[in-house]
Amino acid sequence: MQALTVCELPIDFAPAAFRIKCVSEPWERREALALRRAVFCVEQGVFVGNDLDAIDAHATLLVACACVAGECDQVVGTVRIHEAEPGVWWGSRLAVHPSYRHLGRLGATLIRLAVSMAHARGATAFWAHVQQQNVALFEKLNWHLHGPVQLHGRPHGLMEASLAHYPPCHEPDWGYFTLPQARARASASAGERRT
Ligand SMILES: CC(C)(COP(=O)(O)OP(=O)(O)OC[C@H]1O[C@@H](n2cnc3c(N)ncnc32)[C@H](O)[C@@H]1OP(=O)(O)O)[C@@H](O)C(=O)NCCC(=O)NCCS
Repeated sequence: MQALTVCELPIDFAPAAFRIKCVSEPWERREALALRRAVFCVEQGVFVGNDLDAIDAHATLLVACACVAGECDQVVGTVRIHEAEPGVWWGSRLAVHPSYRHLGRLGATLIRLAVSMAHARGATAFWAHVQQQNVALFEKLNWHLHGPVQLHGRPHGLMEASLAHYPPCHEPDWGYFTLPQARARASASAGERRT
């Protein structure tokens, strides 16, 4: 008997929206950690087998989810933040699924939520070790480079966010929404036509 196909998605299916928020469900955490493993162990080879460390025991995990019918359906990006000493926060393990890069400003919005959430929790400084090829991305997002550093045998930049550009976000469980860029451009030009 032929298998019943419940729903066939068109080949060029793309999510209508992305939601960037704190992890709230066990499956979101599982998928975020799997994505980190895929990016940092398999794609980049920075770690062997597993990228978990002691920080994960107390860090807050954020995710970017592809939404279907307005609901989070799949984790396609992640980052973690932690407070290392009073007021001093760090971000790390920023990763976006390769198929979703340069698509919905997911990396930039994860960074925005990470810093804005820490700001709301009393951060007076927010730092990250940024892989050298991503320093330009962070500079565009109002981070300052303090100098080069070698980490995991690779060149990184020690960078600090300009908190003035990251107003506190007090509702990280709700987070932010973004649209795929083609759709965002279409909405913007439809808005231009309406005005
Ligand atoms: C780095 C990474 C998180 C960026 O995610 P992304 O979702 O593709 O980034 P965004 O779409 O939010 O990028 C925002 C803007 O920065 C640009 N940009 C993205 N990566 C960039 C880079 N490495 N250098 C310069 N600009 C960059 C984008 O083109 C976009 O430009 P626009 O504002 O003109 O549209 C993603 O490439 C990734 O997961 N890389 C592998 C893991 C990694 O390197 N992690 C970071 C460790 S520090």
